[in-house]
Amino acid sequence: MSNKVKKIKHEGMESLVTAVIVCDKDLIINYINPSTETLFEVSAKQAVNNNISVFFEDTNNFFKKILQKVDEQKNSYKEHEYFLQTHQKKTICVSLTVTALIDSSDEFIIEFIQMDQQLKVAREERMFIQQQANTELLRNLAHEVRNPLGGLRGAAQLLEQELGEESLKEYTQIIINEADRLQNLMNRMLTPHQMPVYKKTNIHEILERVRSLILSEFSSDMSFIRDYDVSLPEFIVDREKLIQAILNIARNGAQAMKLNNQDSMQLSFITRAERQIVFRKKKHATAIRIDIIDNGPGIKNELIDKIFFPLVTGNENGSGLGLSLAQNLISLHQGMIDCHSVPGKTVFSIILPIENNLTSTKEKK
Ligand SMILES: Nc1ncnc2c1ncn2[C@@H]1O[C@H](COP(=O)(O)OP(=O)(O)OP(=O)(O)O)[C@@H](O)[C@H]1O
Ligand SMILES: [Mg+2]
Repeated sequence: MSNKVKKIKHEGMESLVTAVIVCDKDLIINYINPSTETLFEVSAKQAVNNNISVFFEDTNNFFKKILQKVDEQKNSYKEHEYFLQTHQKKTICVSLTVTALIDSSDEFIIEFIQMDQQLKVAREERMFIQQQANTELLRNLAHEVRNPLGGLRGAAQLLEQELGEESLKEYTQIIINEADRLQNLMNRMLTPHQMPVYKKTNIHEILERVRSLILSEFSSDMSFIRDYDVSLPEFIVDREKLIQAILNIARNGAQAMKLNNQDSMQLSFITRAERQIVFRKKKHATAIRIDIIDNGPGIKNELIDKIFFPLVTGNENGSGLGLSLAQNLISLHQGMIDCHSVPGKTVFSIILPIENNLTSTKEKK
């Protein structure tokens, strides 16, 4: 097709507010409209005749497979929420539609609409409320289970003392051991009501502590990358609670890499300042972002939307409480946790406002 014909064909797309890419089966770009240039910060000149990887990584050949499907089934494809990582290392959420171009056997239109920030905020808020309700429900349940469990264990012990036959004690031991196991689980679900201790703290002290705990648990096979913004100010937090939250996240990464039997296990801690961000319906002038990154197998697809819910686990011996606990502890500091995961790279980002209305706990005399 001559360039002139192509130009006329794509003219109608020039003024669209949605970002449009026209490409062939192999994802080689024939045309992009100005909205695409703005969305991905790449010019048409840089893009045309190149692969769509100039804009973003085609993780798991997602786009290639979709184009094949659209070509075979002769209909369009829609994805309401898809996360892309651009070459500026920005993660953006888009809704996308792929259609075969009429009058062309080998051209496809990919249309992107960036998900409204507002929608995202509303969704986060909904998820947060749902999570609070779930946690509350489980706490009440754990409370109700804990008391009869004590009675059950005590009765089994008394019974054991009365048993004449030694071999029967095997059964009372099962009752006692299983009651203990349940008791431990219930205790973890009922986050201890320790009084918080708020103190001015440097985030890097906390991260260094987590690092040494991880290294002692997972030996020195783990390589650590630390990329700290040392200019970050101190802020008021409960040190032990933050250590617990970050440790739960980092430990998951280390466990996933170990279970994956990979040769190189790498954990990264990155800290940065974030300015003027909005979350949980509040605007924060400055916040600290902590990225905890591992190069493990990634979070299983079927788990990704539920990992923060209590009792959700993908590990045989996991109890599924680590992340839900971390979420609660970060919420105490008015922060939030976000997560993006693809095979080979899982990023948990914790965002903590510096101005959090917490006041230092007075030292006891
Ligand atoms: N970095 C990660 N890489 C791969 N999978 C992960 C990662 N982080 C979390 N997961 C998945 O999320 C699940 C939930 O994690 P969570 O910490 O809540 O529970 P757990 O680790 O299974 O048990 P617990 O922490 O209570 O011992 C994990 O079982 C695992 O399948
Ligand atoms: Mg865990």
